[in-house]
Amino acid sequence: MSADFQLLSPEDAGAMAALHARAFDEPWPQGDFAALLRQEAMLAVGCEEDGALVSFALFGLVAPEAEILTLCVEPARRNQGEGLRLIRAAISLLAVRKISRLFLDVAQTNAAARALYAKAGFAETGRRPRYYRNGADAILMARDIS
Ligand SMILES: CC(C)(COP(=O)(O)OP(=O)(O)OC[C@H]1O[C@@H](n2cnc3c(N)ncnc32)[C@H](O)[C@@H]1OP(=O)(O)O)[C@@H](O)C(=O)NCCC(=O)NCCS
Repeated sequence: MSADFQLLSPEDAGAMAALHARAFDEPWPQGDFAALLRQEAMLAVGCEEDGALVSFALFGLVAPEAEILTLCVEPARRNQGEGLRLIRAAISLLAVRKISRLFLDVAQTNAAARALYAKAGFAETGRRPRYYRNGADAILMARDIS
């Protein structure tokens, strides 16, 4: 794992919720992040710079599989490769935990995330029509971790 990425804990829930609120229209409460991170089957990886969280991803683990539950990059830090570095750092941590396949779903309308996931080696495995509250289709994607 790259030195600037670290595992996050329930103490990071406030910073995660604040960054998530800057990245998504429907924010998740800090208490939800804290509760999720207290569960054994969760893993969160993030990057801090000058004491501020600039990216993180949260995974649900059911070995040998894992799912990306949410992932975001600070708006001012986008399009500089941070998202790709985050996924790569997380994948090396997941591999250590015997995860061999990683899943996610992404809105068909989310061009940035789709480009990022394609670049990170994910392939489309299916679709769920009108899956999201705004009516967008979900694209299901997966990649193997070796
Ligand atoms: C999706 C997100 C994490 C991408 O983070 P990022 O740090 O900008 O990603 P990267 O800089 O690593 O970009 C990876 C690739 O995606 C491409 N990309 C990034 N933004 C893009 C956009 N708006 N449209 C098309 N491609 C885009 C980049 O060009 C890059 O490919 P390249 O190297 O060939 O140019 C970020 O936009 C974000 O936090 N969005 C809001 C939250 C979100 O939608 N999360 C995903 C939920 S499924």
